[in-house]
Amino acid sequence: MKIDGVSYRSVWVDREDGWSVRIFDQTRLPWAIEILRLVDEDQAAQAIRSMQTRGAPLIGAVAAYGVALAMRRDASTARLDHVVEMLGKTRPTAINLHWALQRIRAALHNLPAADRVAAAYAEAAAICDDDVETCRKIGEHGLPLLQEIAGRKGRVNVLTHCNAGWLATVDYGTALSPIFQAHDLGLDVHVWVDETRPRNQGAALTAFELGKHGVRHTVVADNAGGHLMQHGKVDICIVGTDRVTRQGDVANKIGTYLKALAARDNGVPFWVALPHSTLDMQVRDGVAEIPIEERADAEVTDLTGRTADGRIETIRVVAEGSPAANPAFDVTPSRLVTGLITERGRTEASEAGIAALYPEKV
Ligand code: MRU
Repeated sequence: MKIDGVSYRSVWVDREDGWSVRIFDQTRLPWAIEILRLVDEDQAAQAIRSMQTRGAPLIGAVAAYGVALAMRRDASTARLDHVVEMLGKTRPTAINLHWALQRIRAALHNLPAADRVAAAYAEAAAICDDDVETCRKIGEHGLPLLQEIAGRKGRVNVLTHCNAGWLATVDYGTALSPIFQAHDLGLDVHVWVDETRPRNQGAALTAFELGKHGVRHTVVADNAGGHLMQHGKVDICIVGTDRVTRQGDVANKIGTYLKALAARDNGVPFWVALPHSTLDMQVRDGVAEIPIEERADAEVTDLTGRTADGRIETIRVVAEGSPAANPAFDVTPSRLVTGLITERGRTEASEAGIAALYPEKV
């Protein structure tokens, strides 16, 4: 995707030195575009933990490069196993992290240590290329949903939650991919962007991406979605996801479940966009079985923003002394999901629907 006319992916190998890894510092967006340089696996792990890099597909890609960085210093099997385990513990909910780590581990494991550095960079690059093509196809398969609405009523109002755009993937995004494509084709698309407290990925990142691409959008408080749906202002909800189970339950950013409930009550279609790497066929009942990340209280008690004179500052918004809780994800049961948009097409959020698209995973 482009920022001010310059094409970027959200992770890449430094073009000058050919080995260090570059990412955007997403904690500085949208106020500042800062590019970080990762030189070892510990920096990759810290960037994932601190959410300088985030989004289910992207953390998998960055973790894969973390393995490549580790192999430069020590390409032994013991080191490979250790670094895969260490990076796998950085965040618990998005399954893409484990998918990418297992993929790169499998690619390296049977190779002689001398071949592992080159193979690790090649595999990490292949994971990135796979994600780019997958997300592009998700856009193609989601596009007809928006075209159908546009054909019926002209303007299309989409509601989305969190950030599932190109910053959450390597390029294009998942939930936003059909929206970018629809906009590029000239459809009249408008996006309601949930701010997505506590970390405001909607207000800070989705709004930034849509704005840079010229897509009309309006940021709303998380609590506004139900009201907008009741008043006919949302034609379709499209969200991304961090893990989809065998039976089609969907883990996504906290607050997604409430949007799905409101959508069901108001007859608004609720679609979930995902790449193959987000499917977890080992898990059936998402509510019971998906580990939900608990993050620091400070993400709830404090807010970060830019002051009028341009400083980026953090302030406390909760009464002094009040404790906070911060579950970062929730699970939307498959019965509330209209369907899944994947790189292989659209399907119902059910075991049969998923098996029909991914027979090799059953
Ligand atoms: O905690 P984050 O910001 O890494 O969570 C990411 C999300 O929940 C996104 O909304 C998303 O849909 C998954 S990434 C395409």
